[in-house]
Amino acid sequence: MDPLELATPIIAPSGTDLGALAAANLTPVLGRYFEHSWSHGIGHRLYDTDGKAYLDFANGIAVSALGHGHPAVTKAIHEQVDRLIVPTAAIGYSEPVVRLATELAATLPEPLDTVMFLNSGSEAIEAALKLARRTTGRAGIIAFRGGFHGRTFGSASVTSSNINYRAGYEPLLPGVHLLPFPAAYRDFEGDEERATSACLAALQELVRTTIPAEGIGSILIEPILGEGGYYPAPIRFLQALRAFASEHGIVLIMDEVQTGYGRTGRMWSFEHAGIVPDVVCVAKAIANGLPLSAIVSTRALHERWGKSAHGSTYGGNPVACAAALAVLATIRSERLVENAATRGAELTRGLQAIAAEESRIGDIRGPGLMIGIELVKDRASREPDGDLASALMAGCADAGLLVLACGRDHNVIRLIPPINVTPDEVGEALGIIDRTLAGLAR
Ligand SMILES: Cc1ncc(COP(=O)(O)O)c(C=O)c1O
Repeated sequence: MDPLELATPIIAPSGTDLGALAAANLTPVLGRYFEHSWSHGIGHRLYDTDGKAYLDFANGIAVSALGHGHPAVTKAIHEQVDRLIVPTAAIGYSEPVVRLATELAATLPEPLDTVMFLNSGSEAIEAALKLARRTTGRAGIIAFRGGFHGRTFGSASVTSSNINYRAGYEPLLPGVHLLPFPAAYRDFEGDEERATSACLAALQELVRTTIPAEGIGSILIEPILGEGGYYPAPIRFLQALRAFASEHGIVLIMDEVQTGYGRTGRMWSFEHAGIVPDVVCVAKAIANGLPLSAIVSTRALHERWGKSAHGSTYGGNPVACAAALAVLATIRSERLVENAATRGAELTRGLQAIAAEESRIGDIRGPGLMIGIELVKDRASREPDGDLASALMAGCADAGLLVLACGRDHNVIRLIPPINVTPDEVGEALGIIDRTLAGLAR
């Protein structure tokens, strides 16, 4: 029996239609991939209120990286709830917060040793942008088209994965310059070198014609474009950004909100490029579901930022930090970064075998357990097929597998299983994807 199940009580399905209940008082603004009514989660399965189980390869969008109700995380939360819930940042220190800063910093390369805790990915982006602006005294921000960094005003100002995140909110934060992201498959016929050169040329053109490099305080990038379609930035591109930022005294901010915490087969996705950014934004998987985020930077930058330059009432809640300590301990003791690399390679191989027989799969991209399946009308035209992605997402859910779509044309299915996913679950998901896609009419 799955050890995760032993720790979890049996929960009877209620049969309640929560969508009908929600219609009266819950905002209609929130977008949803599904309208299911969820009851509980055990291990790698989510259960709806009718008691049907779904293998969860969505995980609250890469949040519950250790699965649902992981015993170590649940135990840490229970113990901390009995000890202290309230955040103490304004009046001193509490142990899980301080210990987590030490443990989180230890996962990052030198000189990234200083942590500020916040509550969400958007807040981490806000904090990083403020740090860069104040410490450099420069207003310019470079971000990349197709990027998603959040929905607060600052983070929405650097977001362009969908017009709905920006429309009607202008004027957004001034000083933001959006450059093309080297999405090789979609925009450069799969040619990474050409994508890299073209996007670096756009950067050079920007500083030649629009804003001098000395006016730019930060460059913000997702090492793998997330909501924008799961396109990994080529290694040469990330290395060139690092060199450019260093040459001109610009703060290089890496948004690891979706890519971090072992998901890509490395603890941090920027490690694939052999670079060290100046600021790393962390959220989602950090506390396996409790709201917590962080920025990690150098002591020197934090000191230059200055006392009380930023803060948060709830950031670094002791319960969330206790959960986060259990997450890091589990990743270490169960070697889950390695598991993400191994299972990710298996999943990618299995998808490639499906793609060999299926011309509507245009591309399969890793790394690790952050996999995009790009669906197209046919491989030669590369024309995006968002309808097929929607049908596949719905069909997989009917068959008991939760996956999500992304991309500016909503035609990329993303697989973000828990990083402790097993070989059997990888096989189960591959079988469902294969059968469901085959059953969808051409
Ligand atoms: C790469 C990235 N950055 C930032 C965010 C914003 O995080 P949050 O929704 O926690 O504010 C997200 C959320 O999906 C994300 O994927």
